[in-house]
Amino acid sequence: MKGFIRIILIASVTIASFSQAKHMDEDTIDKRTSPVGKVNIEGMPVATEADNNSMGHEETVIAAEEVVEVTTSTGARAGDAVYNTYCIACHSIGLANAPKAGDSAAWTKLLEVGMDTLVASAVKGKNVMPPNGTCADCSDEELESAITFMSTMNP
Ligand code: HEC
Repeated sequence: MKGFIRIILIASVTIASFSQAKHMDEDTIDKRTSPVGKVNIEGMPVATEADNNSMGHEETVIAAEEVVEVTTSTGARAGDAVYNTYCIACHSIGLANAPKAGDSAAWTKLLEVGMDTLVASAVKGKNVMPPNGTCADCSDEELESAITFMSTMNP
């Protein structure tokens, strides 16, 4: 299953001060401090290249909001990650008779019906347990990993 990471680069502010970079020549400074965009505010004079006097000038550059969607193919989430996010609330304390994580006797008994049946039961939900154990976007594989984690972890 693919996960999506939304990286939102909201704004970057660059303040270039010539005095902090005396050792660089003007070309280098221009290259390093060249703005990716300028913000012109209504009613204010429009920024132009001529405004960039390199002697101790201070320039504030605000990059446009950029939304980058990165598709990761790290595969399924691990059992401990799913458990710690979605199942722990009930299965750590045995809420409403939820089989406790780490209670290997209870899980061994449950697993007698077979992992597939247990996964199907978790998908459907059972009594107090909502469908997918609240992990709406969990795949069967991820639920299985969480079940395996709960049945084998040290309490
Ligand atoms: C809101 C509480 C709650 C959450 C969150 C929850 N469970 Fe449960 N779970 C229960 C309860 C209560 C039971 C016992 C249901 C019964 O037998 O009455 C249960 C039972 C189960 C069973 C046994 C089902 C069966 O057929 O006997 C499995 C498997 C299971 N949970 C997996 C999960 C997984 C995996 C997660 C996390 C993705 C999860 N649960 C999250 C409350 C929860």
